[in-house]
Amino acid sequence: MDSFAIDGGHRLSGEIKISGSKNAALPIIAASLLTVEKCEISNVPDLMDIKTSFDLLNHLGKKCCFGFGTFSAQERGSIRHHAPYDLVRRMRASVLVAGALLARFKKARFSLPGGCSIGVRPIDIHLEAFKKLGAEITYERGDVALSAKKLRPAKIKFRFPSVGATENLMMAATLVAGTTVLENCAMEPEIIDLAGALRSMGARIEGDGTARIKIKGVSKLSGLKHRVIPDRIETGTFMIMCAAAGGRLRLVGAEPGNSAVLIKALRKSGVSVSAAKDAVLVESSGLRPAPVNVKTEPHPGFPTDLQAVWMAYMARCRGKCEIEENIFENRFIHAAELMRMGASIYLSNNKAFIHGADKLTGAPVMASDIRAGAGLITAALAAKGQSFIRRVYHIDRGYERIEEKLKAVGAKIERIRS
Ligand code: EPZ
Repeated sequence: MDSFAIDGGHRLSGEIKISGSKNAALPIIAASLLTVEKCEISNVPDLMDIKTSFDLLNHLGKKCCFGFGTFSAQERGSIRHHAPYDLVRRMRASVLVAGALLARFKKARFSLPGGCSIGVRPIDIHLEAFKKLGAEITYERGDVALSAKKLRPAKIKFRFPSVGATENLMMAATLVAGTTVLENCAMEPEIIDLAGALRSMGARIEGDGTARIKIKGVSKLSGLKHRVIPDRIETGTFMIMCAAAGGRLRLVGAEPGNSAVLIKALRKSGVSVSAAKDAVLVESSGLRPAPVNVKTEPHPGFPTDLQAVWMAYMARCRGKCEIEENIFENRFIHAAELMRMGASIYLSNNKAFIHGADKLTGAPVMASDIRAGAGLITAALAAKGQSFIRRVYHIDRGYERIEEKLKAVGAKIERIRS
């Protein structure tokens, strides 16, 4: 297992090219199962989760190629309908193939994803909605099987705006004759990107980016050429890292409109952020920030995927602040690691109370998920002395060549291969 060694206290200055969004690419790759024709998806980041999608689609019977940021999938024979445990346990987003398989073949089987370090993460909202489309659900040996003689359109109101359920149901409904209406939908930019990709395959979808999405089923979808949107979580992570370490970063290829809440919070903390058409410029003194409370919410609220990174930044705030986590029930594991670096954090239910520390000091720490890992890098960049971050395989699932990007702008970070 690789580790990162980071010498803190160096300013970040220069340009970073933002990668394509992991969380937009994953459902669009799954959508290639909706058609027999070739799908070509560009601006796909080179990450472990994309490799797992590659393995999953190959297993299901697509011939996939991935290189230079382009992922292509072509049918090479009959398609299997079973996403096995070995692949689902590597990546929960594997369940996103269910909607496409059900739509096209009227059957899908996949291993029930268990919980993970950030929460129990059930998939009941997906399953309830598939039932409303007419799918029968059975369970066998840890798998869920969906089947239907014929799917029917439905009006479905999600009990929570789940990102994955909105994506799965949007895909499933594209091939169901009649009009399906999804309510209380997730409104994340990744949903809009998936809807755009599906539309270019011939799907008839309206309302993506709002809470109500309307899908008129078509009989067949065609191939796809699509460029994935820039990663707003990677963008936000680098913005916060620059704020914490100090310096001047230009994030090229970023879409500032997708980071509006974060930009507002950063400005409140004392950092200068200016947005150009295709880039974001962040300038920070690296001094202790003003305290800024945040609470995570579905988009357009503050993203849960930046909560750990924000906590690392606020660990040195000039005073006290609160962070409220409203999406996942166990997404504060990084707090204990930050405390090992000198942060003062008290946890109570879904709230973290931070008493800003004068300084953080380098320490050996351990990443528990992708974003917790990014939070630890943030703290290490701003800390005095050297930190060792273990279990960086978590970070590699979500950030493309993060140490190379940081090194190029002046960070002292090395990957230690084991
Ligand atoms: C997506 O996960 C992202 N993953 C996550 O990013 C992100 O943290 C999350 O949305 C929230 O923004 C991908 O896009 C691949 P949800 P997803 O369904 O779709 C509960 C990262 O670090 N829920 O919106 O799984 C669930 O337990 C990752 O890149 C149910 O109760 O998230 C959670 O508490 C991690 N039943 C909340 O809803 C369900 O059927 C939000 O989950 C579905 C979800």
